[in-house]
Amino acid sequence: MTHFALVTGAARGIGLATAKLMLADGWQVVMLDRDGDELQAATKGLAGAHPLVADVAIPADVERARATVAGMTDALHALVNNAGVADFGPIEDTDFARWRRVMDTNLDGVFLMSQAFTPLLKAAPGAVVNIASISGLRASTLRVAYGTSKAAVMHLTRQYAVELGEYGVRVNAVCPGPVRTKLAMAVHSQAIIAAYHDAIPLNRYGTEAEIAEVIRFLCSDRASYVTGQIIAADGGFEASGIGLPALRG
Ligand SMILES: NC(=O)c1ccc[n+]([C@@H]2O[C@H](COP(=O)([O-])OP(=O)(O)OC[C@H]3O[C@@H](n4cnc5c(N)ncnc54)[C@H](O)[C@@H]3O)[C@@H](O)[C@H]2O)c1
Repeated sequence: MTHFALVTGAARGIGLATAKLMLADGWQVVMLDRDGDELQAATKGLAGAHPLVADVAIPADVERARATVAGMTDALHALVNNAGVADFGPIEDTDFARWRRVMDTNLDGVFLMSQAFTPLLKAAPGAVVNIASISGLRASTLRVAYGTSKAAVMHLTRQYAVELGEYGVRVNAVCPGPVRTKLAMAVHSQAIIAAYHDAIPLNRYGTEAEIAEVIRFLCSDRASYVTGQIIAADGGFEASGIGLPALRG
């Protein structure tokens, strides 16, 4: 039977890397992104890829995406809620519009997509993987909106896992550490990059492919007894509470 996956934010970065791994495993992959030009370029020549231009934060777009996928398959075996935006700023500069812009995609988008695709996920039954962040596991400066949105995604993950478990639907979250994508490079200065290298036990950023491998595993039947889990792929960052560079040296 042909297995269908849907990956959001699939035009570049972690989402594109994930879609490519799943295509290599023989999945049909609906690659959803709101950036139509980048999506078209990314999917060109990819056998098994189905580009779908939509914004996960707009309910009408989500409904159109659901109807499109329902026209292609009776069952969705994997939904990867990866689309995300980053906006780092001090609390007092984070006005409501900036807060909403982050919540719209990072939290509302995950809720809307997961809810809309629940019937198709039950039919498989399928797996959901939500992309949270190390910024949701540990508080830091300038992330009042971003970090809070990602912490909420982790709890949303557990809510869905507990409620959909009886249907065989598994729901997990992956928390990437820093990866040099367009999203991260827009908010990471050279000083931030150097500080991350010092603070992370593996002393480096991760790659898109390293995050995608964890997502691929959680989507696969090899993870058939794993649900409700929050898994960091972060070079040991979360584990290193007081792993200060000075102490290590
Ligand atoms: N890069 C990192 O360091 C890092 C670390 C932790 C978590 N993450 C998370 O990983 C995920 C992927 O990030 P990335 O670094 O690959 O980013 P990226 O900016 O390279 O790619 C994100 C993609 O999502 C799309 N997108 C954004 N909002 C959308 C929306 N509302 N609807 C549809 N598509 C939308 C963008 O057009 C883009 O193609 C995000 O959820 C991000 O928060 C990234």
